[in-house]
Amino acid sequence: MSEFYALVPAAGSGSRMGSELPKQYLPLAGQPMIFHALNALCSTTDIGTVFVVLAPDDALFHAYDWSRFGNKLQPLYCGGATRAESVLNGLLASEQEPDDWVLVHDAARPCLTQAHLVKLIAEVRDDEVGGILAVPVADTLKRADGTQRIAQTENREGLWQAQTPQMFRIGLLLQALQSARDVTDEASAVEALGLHPKLVASEPTNFKVTYPQDLLLAELLLSQKGN
Ligand code: CTP
Ligand code: MG
Repeated sequence: MSEFYALVPAAGSGSRMGSELPKQYLPLAGQPMIFHALNALCSTTDIGTVFVVLAPDDALFHAYDWSRFGNKLQPLYCGGATRAESVLNGLLASEQEPDDWVLVHDAARPCLTQAHLVKLIAEVRDDEVGGILAVPVADTLKRADGTQRIAQTENREGLWQAQTPQMFRIGLLLQALQSARDVTDEASAVEALGLHPKLVASEPTNFKVTYPQDLLLAELLLSQKGN
């Protein structure tokens, strides 16, 4: 039987957030932002260990009390210069079996629920390639010319927005990331091998906190969940 692991890249600086504190540590619903994703992953019984990839000089993580997650939560101080590098370094440092599954999830997606995780695992665990949470694009898409005017309307049929977790066999993902480093998600690296990961329908609520205005929405969603 294959095992399931989670790996949470959390070595970014949050430059678009524009705050001194790296965004994964910004206060959100009474906890540092990263707590919420770790909580969802650690609460899922199928997942054996949750690795969190931190910057080598991270001095903030250990200042919080993570004892409620026990040994299930394992920090790795091996983050790299890009997200893909952080994920690759984390996979190498975690030393898990190539046939086991890893769910890679952004520290900056705090509204992930256990229902999302259960659905992803159920729909991908028997898949040959792996898969990702994603949502079909809902808005009409415009392509801009160089002067911020509309050059044309794009056909949105068949377009999805990629989210995380992204779930792959560890051996395949290692191979993919070692040959395609300049990717912004795991699926792109796997696609570059000529493979076609599965799209598992998620919800817009599993969005990534990127800009300051995203914090308010995340706070609202998390406070609803708490009630
Ligand atoms: N990440 C990482 N290592 C990096 C860059 C990003 O582990 N060198 C992580 C971030 O901590 C985050 C996830 O990848 O959990 C998604 O990245 P993003 O939202 O782009 O976060 P940042 O890179 O921190 O933000 P920005 O791009 O605005 O600087
Ligand atoms: Mg980034």
